Amino acid sequence: MIRFGWKKNKPVDETAKAVRNSLGPRSIALVGLMGCGKSSVGRRLAARLELPFVDADEEIERAAGKSIPDIFAEHGEAHFREGERKVIQRLLSEGQKVLATGGGAYMNADTREAIRRAGISVWLKADLPVLMRRVLKRDNRPLLKEKDPEAVMRSLMERRYPIYAEADITVDSRDVAHDVIVDEVLKAVAAYCRKPAHAANV
Ligand code: S3P
Repeated sequence: MIRFGWKKNKPVDETAKAVRNSLGPRSIALVGLMGCGKSSVGRRLAARLELPFVDADEEIERAAGKSIPDIFAEHGEAHFREGERKVIQRLLSEGQKVLATGGGAYMNADTREAIRRAGISVWLKADLPVLMRRVLKRDNRPLLKEKDPEAVMRSLMERRYPIYAEADITVDSRDVAHDVIVDEVLKAVAAYCRKPAHAANV
């Protein structure tokens, strides 16, 4: 429900306020395959919660001083993964935020553990046609620079979905307005935090 508060007629976002309270100091990390909407949903989610938003891929590029395609081309995937692990550990230790992780990040056990310690993980789960429609619009993902990007995606889904399923919360990402998904994430986080085992220990 949105009501108008007395301060400058700014609407009070009751849903977000309640989630923010029940989160306590915890961060929210979005995980899932390329194209599932981690960055677009994450940015809007952070705005609703009035928390900082950080995109791990952008931070990796900043730390390396080069783009992800260049990191892959010049140093290889293993080097990228090591940088990704370190950057995410650092970001999670730097205070509460909404963090969008790169699609492969959650596959690393140390990263999963760092996310578990820092807060709540949300898997944005999307089906193949949705993912393909989105990723084919851009040319910035080294793993998809193959003859058959759909086959690559299918095999990533097979390998990664069982691991993404370890996330605390799963939300179905689909072709609807990002704000619809943001609302579903907020409701899912609220329901998760209502369970006694997951209440904030502030
Ligand atoms: C990758 C996903 C990308 C990026 C890199 C590798 C992956 O991030 O980290 O190209 O392994 O799935 P997005 O999921 O944000 O596209």
